[in-house]
Amino acid sequence: MRITLSVIKADIGGYVGHSESHPDVLAKADECLAQAKKDKLLVDYHVTKCGDDLQLIMTHQQGEDSEKIHKLAWDTFLEGTEVAKKLKLHGAGQDLLADAFSGNVRGMGPGVAEMEFEEREAETIIIFMADKTSSGAWNMPLYKMFADPFNTIGLVIASNMHAGFAFEVHDVKEHKKVTFNAPEEIYDLLIFIGAPSRFMVKAVYHRESREIAAVSSTQRLALIAGRYVGKDDPVCIVRSQGSFPAVGEVVEPFASPILVEGWMRGSHMGPLMPVSIKDSTPTRFDGPPRVIGLGFQLTEGNLVGPRDLLADKSFNLARHQANEMADLMRRHGPFEPHRLPLEEMEYTTMPEVMQKLGGRFTDLD
Ligand code: F6R
Ligand code: MG
Ligand code: MG
Repeated sequence: MRITLSVIKADIGGYVGHSESHPDVLAKADECLAQAKKDKLLVDYHVTKCGDDLQLIMTHQQGEDSEKIHKLAWDTFLEGTEVAKKLKLHGAGQDLLADAFSGNVRGMGPGVAEMEFEEREAETIIIFMADKTSSGAWNMPLYKMFADPFNTIGLVIASNMHAGFAFEVHDVKEHKKVTFNAPEEIYDLLIFIGAPSRFMVKAVYHRESREIAAVSSTQRLALIAGRYVGKDDPVCIVRSQGSFPAVGEVVEPFASPILVEGWMRGSHMGPLMPVSIKDSTPTRFDGPPRVIGLGFQLTEGNLVGPRDLLADKSFNLARHQANEMADLMRRHGPFEPHRLPLEEMEYTTMPEVMQKLGGRFTDLD
């Protein structure tokens, strides 16, 4: 059975500040998607949250980029925004950047990750969702899952993965894409994806079968809006088991927290902390950034699950390390490398301070 899995998300209001989603907003989204399931537009759905982001996980047979599915998501965000406005939540409707729906939510603010595939005998899916970070945060985890034998031993000892994976990389500033084959092109791949604010892994394919293995949302809100409206808070879908990495290989990268951009005012680096859904409540200095991972088995498109995979005790040490890293970064206060380089900060007073200084900057001798 061919099935499309669409994960469409938006921050349509935070509770309190940017730290959480309000249960009434989630309940409204559930109501909208339940109706769509009843109307047979959706096969199944699951509504959840990661921090202040509302996450719509939907299965259907409309294919990727379906106008009907995108409109459903857009309308659901609009309905949720009404609830958020009534509660006067912070930043109600903040990620909805267009006045009216025009066929596809891409470029309109919400984040989108979609993949269409033939459902396997056992279709294991893991959906990662992050808050207080940007889309490039998936670059290193995806590299580790699909190209690093120190993370994924299956690349070495499982014949159905030994030929490697292909990485589709997007240059979000120049609107270009390129595909690299791992393992033989990993040095070429890394020169790009090691710069995650510009180059992002959009998709990963199994090289022998050409099957889709992973897909991420790569929209940059600031590039769409031309101004800061919130961090991208990206999502990523990964297929697991069989000729794809095992569940344990897929979640392993999150056991070693890395520094990502997006903390406080979208202008700071901080550790990406793996947490349960319940703990996706970025509070300290509006963070530190969080990632959750929900596992599902698909049955004729029905979402059996979720299992809250990063809630597991084996991530306790990673959480502890992330808190230590957070302290270390916070020690820098308004200095780099905690604060982002000038051109990457989402908030800045630089132009007005420069203007105020007038001629006080003079040439060096
Ligand atoms: C970071 C984030 C928050 C806000 C901060 C100021 O991605 O969402 O750190 O940037 O709370 O928010 P506003 O400008 O909405 O008051
Ligand atoms: Mg927010
Ligand atoms: Mg958010």
